[in-house]
Amino acid sequence: MKKRSILWTILMAVVSLLFFWLVLLKLILKLNKGRGEPCPTSWSWIVDNPLRRWDVRYALDRAGLRSGETVLELGPGPGAFTIDAAQRVGPEGRLIAVDIQPGMIAQVEERVKAAGLTNVETHVASAYELPLPDASVDRAFLITVLPEIPDPVRALREIHRVLKTGGVVSMTEEFLDPDYPRRATTMAWANAAGFELAERYGNWWNYTLNFRRKP
Ligand SMILES: C[S@@+](CC[C@H](N)C(=O)[O-])C[C@H]1O[C@@H](n2cnc3c(N)ncnc32)[C@H](O)[C@@H]1O
Repeated sequence: MKKRSILWTILMAVVSLLFFWLVLLKLILKLNKGRGEPCPTSWSWIVDNPLRRWDVRYALDRAGLRSGETVLELGPGPGAFTIDAAQRVGPEGRLIAVDIQPGMIAQVEERVKAAGLTNVETHVASAYELPLPDASVDRAFLITVLPEIPDPVRALREIHRVLKTGGVVSMTEEFLDPDYPRRATTMAWANAAGFELAERYGNWWNYTLNFRRKP
């Protein structure tokens, strides 16, 4: 066997093994967490790890955050994407991080402090009752959050309320999340809450859908 084909075989074996363990991890997590339950704070190390950050690294590009915008991050968890998002909206913009679990928001606050950012606002609140006025947000983004919420359409209606007319909500989902919803499911939830599809990115493994708020 040539040296190149041996290396290729080893590489494929490593990739297959990695995939196998990741799918096994997904199944174990699924068995340990009921549908519609928030991901426990003790799982922060799983949510925020280098492999996952690599997998969803384009999520913020796809969400289209712009300098000067007021952006809602619903369900930041330990804040793996919060600092990057806050830097993208810049000092003229505002990043509002809302999570139902105080333990998650405490981790976000620590990161924000360490990064020396002053444009981040944090709230412990439910997706059903966002502590924000009507039509006050330019953009919202959720990364692997919506399927954890027992009534996703109700949560999206609340996002609809706080978004300005023409505002965008961006949702990223990834296959390894134990609650992973198919694209068609996410689209049906968004349509039911008064949004229309504006952009779609990705594949079955990792997708982002951006929806525009209908008036
Ligand atoms: C799987 S974690 C994702 C964290 C982060 N977006 C990421 O991708 O790294 C989901 C987060 O959504 C939050 N969450 C779940 N249900 C929620 C609700 N009803 N209202 C607000 N936040 C919620 C959880 O507390 C958790 O921090």
